[in-house]
Formats: sequence, C-alpha cells, structure tokens
Amino acid sequence: TGPKPLAGKRVLVTAGGTVERIDPVRYITNDSSGKMGFAIAEAARDRGAQVTLVVGKADVEPPNGVDVVAVRSALEMREAVMERLPDVDVVVKAAAVADYRPARQATEKMKKSAEALTLELVPNPDILQEIGEWKAAREVGARQPFIIGFAAETTDVEKHALDKLKRKKCDLIVANDVTAEGAGFGIDTNVVSVYGPAGLVEKLPLLSKKDVAGRILDLIAVSTRPTGGNK
Ligand code: PMT
Repeated sequence: TGPKPLAGKRVLVTAGGTVERIDPVRYITNDSSGKMGFAIAEAARDRGAQVTLVVGKADVEPPNGVDVVAVRSALEMREAVMERLPDVDVVVKAAAVADYRPARQATEKMKKSAEALTLELVPNPDILQEIGEWKAAREVGARQPFIIGFAAETTDVEKHALDKLKRKKCDLIVANDVTAEGAGFGIDTNVVSVYGPAGLVEKLPLLSKKDVAGRILDLIAVSTRPTGGNK
C-alpha cells in the first residue's frame, strides 16, 4: 500500500561486497554487509518498481519481492549489471566493489613456506564508470538509465564525491563519510549527503538505512518523473 511513484519502472540495485579469490579457500573482500543496498531495493519495491538486486557477499538475507542475482567477484558483478542495462530505468550502485583482484587465482590451495609471499593485484574494472560511459554512448531516444552511485569516503567527502560523480558520469551520488559515528559499513544506520551535477541536493542526518533508502528513492522518483523533475 501507499503511493507507487515508481510503478512500471525497472530498478537495478547492487549490494554487498565483492569476493576476489586467491585460491579455493582464501579471498579478499571488504566489510559491506549488504544492508544499505538491500534497504534501497526494498524502498524501490515498496514504491512499485520491479527490482533486480545484484548481490555479492552479504551478512543478511535479501528482501522478498525482488529478483536476486547472486555474484561473487567484481568481474561477475560487472557482467550481471552490464547485460541487464538495456532494460533498466534506474541503477543504484550501493555495492562495495573491490578495486583490485589477485592477478592469478590458484586452482589448488596454496602451500605455506618459510618465504615471504607477495600477492600481485591487478585493477578491477570500474562498473559504475562503465555504466556512465555506456549511457553516454546511447543513441538519442534510446532508454537512458538514471544512475546513482555511492561514494565511501574518509576525507574531503564533498570534493571526492563530486569528483566521482563527474568521472563516473552519475546523475546523483550518495556520499558516505564512513568515519562518522553511526555511518558506513555493517551497522543499521547511515549518514549521507546526496550530490548532483549542480552540487549538494540533500544533506541527511543520522538515520536508519531504511530511512536513508526511502529519502534516496523519493529523490529518484522526483528526478525520473516524466513531467518535470530536476534531470
Ligand atoms: O553494505 P553495508 O554494510 O550496509 O555498507 C554500506 C556501504 C558503506 C557499502 C555503502 O553505503 C557504500 O558507501 N557503498 C559504496 C562503497 C564503495 O565501493 O565506494 P567507492 O567510493 O569505492 O566507489 C564509488 C562507487 O563506484 C560506488 O557506487 C561503487 O559501487 C562503484 N564502483 C567502485 C569500484 C569499482 N571497481 N566499480 C564500481 O562500480
């Protein structure tokens, strides 16, 4: 029940952390629990959207009533996202994607030795940036997804968030000062500010991730309204 401003819209959300394998029993990941992305998916569902949730590693269960696509690595997440883009109206990238992965994945458990071990890491593709570039190359009149990125920052939050918004060609970016009390990875609350190309759109106080998601989805609904909106 309640208003359904996103009825008929297809929303793709990424959540959780990616898992970058070293060998069959070891991997590199990060502290993302999936909570923020799951709250976004839920808020989109409750506003009437048809939601696809692409999930890496998460500590909690995904919401009901959304299509869940389970992935592990950044490369798998990229494939799952890019192949669905042509059918999507809104993309929200709340996932914490590993910037690097091991250059080689051992097929057998690596043996211990007395020597120091150096792990070579290679950069992962930037999925958000690829989405922005894909959109920029779309023909005029083709379906254009509205793109929302997240930015997890520890210093100069506004500067880095605006820089990511431009570089990754997003419509909005949700900046997280992950050092702030009650904000960031793992917990049930967050503190975020939303920026658009013209600067600050909304600075939110400490809220539950559910309420943060609701505010973000309300902004998306206004921005993607066929008549007017700030896009
Ligand atoms: O999952 P929770 O425990 O609830 O925690 C929530 C959160 C802190 C993970 C979330 O609120 C958040 O900030 N997500 C983004 C984390 C992140 O990877 O930030 P970033 O500043 O490194 O990346 C910026 C944006 O680019 C993000 O939208 C990210 O999904 C995207 N990215 C980054 C690297 C990469 N290789 N590909 C990407 O698409």
